[in-house]
Amino acid sequence: MAQKTLFQAVKEDHEEMYEYHDQYQRAFAKGDVEACARWAHQLRWEIARHAVGEEIVVYPLMEKHLGDKGKELADHDRSEHSQVKQELYKLEGMQPGTEEYTSLLNRMMTSLHHHNDDEEIDDLPLLEPAIGEAASMEAAQDFKRTKKFVPTRAHPAAPNQPPMETLVGFLAAPVDKLLDVFKSFPREDEMKAAKEELKHRDHDAAAGRQATVQ
Ligand SMILES: [Fe+2]
Ligand SMILES: [Fe+2]
Repeated sequence: MAQKTLFQAVKEDHEEMYEYHDQYQRAFAKGDVEACARWAHQLRWEIARHAVGEEIVVYPLMEKHLGDKGKELADHDRSEHSQVKQELYKLEGMQPGTEEYTSLLNRMMTSLHHHNDDEEIDDLPLLEPAIGEAASMEAAQDFKRTKKFVPTRAHPAAPNQPPMETLVGFLAAPVDKLLDVFKSFPREDEMKAAKEELKHRDHDAAAGRQATVQ
């Protein structure tokens, strides 16, 4: 699979959000409350992980490489994210499949669509030439990597779970704290190498509990 640029990686996520939202709408039209809950959950997680990925990887690059304009754009984007996070909190306490939930979700998606369009039309077309293709692909990998350490679904909060295991906990965690967690995971290329090695690994327990690589 060809490597993606940052623009492609971000855009792909945006499309995913629209797809999940469409699925929700269809379920809502059919009155399928359970399917509404599943798609709402998927959509909320997708948005949360995407937003945090941008805050960790994309906006700092804009600030670093686009001077004052980059700072201005990143600040604007962060304030829009914070609006979306507020709405995600509200949705977390509401019942998917109801009129009330659906209208808040639709309103949130309308503003998010504008926000996403701004990223696709203004931010990334400015950033990509400033950093060059290789750096863009590397950033795309970093961006995708942020999604791997984020749980895909919220668990009921248990005392021994880290706060990031729930959507609210995750969104409330400061970005620098998330950044530490993020840095402690293997990079995508490291994981790929490990997976490749795993194919040739054979743990022969009888031969003395030594895992061997052939
Ligand atoms: Fe964004
Ligand atoms: Fe985005």
